[in-house]
Amino acid sequence: PLTVVALISGSGSNLQALIDAQTAGAPFALCAVISNEPDAFGLERARRHGIPTAVLNHRDYPDRASFDQALAALIDSYAPQLVVLAGFMRILTPEFVARYLGRLLNIHPSLLPKYQGLHTHQRALDAGEHEHGASVHFVTAELDGGPVILQARVPVLADDDAATLAARVLQREHVIYPAVVRWFAEGRLQLGDDGCAYLDGVALTAPHQ
Ligand code: GAR
Repeated sequence: PLTVVALISGSGSNLQALIDAQTAGAPFALCAVISNEPDAFGLERARRHGIPTAVLNHRDYPDRASFDQALAALIDSYAPQLVVLAGFMRILTPEFVARYLGRLLNIHPSLLPKYQGLHTHQRALDAGEHEHGASVHFVTAELDGGPVILQARVPVLADDDAATLAARVLQREHVIYPAVVRWFAEGRLQLGDDGCAYLDGVALTAPHQ
């Protein structure tokens, strides 16, 4: 199976979806879960499934560059074939991104390129959107700007608040992230030199400008 390291900061429900897919026979294996938050519940999820865990607290490092260097060294100690950001809430340096380019995935809770950054659900509500969702993309140096691989769309309902909308989106995240990791494990997914994502050799999206 394809070896995967997951980076988390919180609840880890997307991590759980990946663990469940692995348990159900998907062709990938989580070899470690790394959190920048010592109390992230996702660490407990990993432990329950016998997956090695590590904490790298960004507060212990003087700057982003030194944290990212330590993070890369820790990741490389597991020699993964793929790194997945699963609710990892730290911005990564261009040097870090370059090191894992083409084998670094993220899931973001909006229909990219809309609502990059934080508070995506409230911003979609405030804008009066009728549709919202989540995107899995290759990570590139541009924050939340890498080429989209797969999106899930959900309706925005009249009585939604950020919490109800987030919950509806999250349910769909748990479907699309394991699907994309499976594609990658099957060797069907590439980041092209042109910045596009390719599935079975076919470009999925234009790179964001
Ligand atoms: C998910 O909604 C994920 O898309 C989002 O954080 C949540 C993590 O939930 N990620 C980001 O906002 C990245 N900037 P989880 O810990 O339960 O998987």
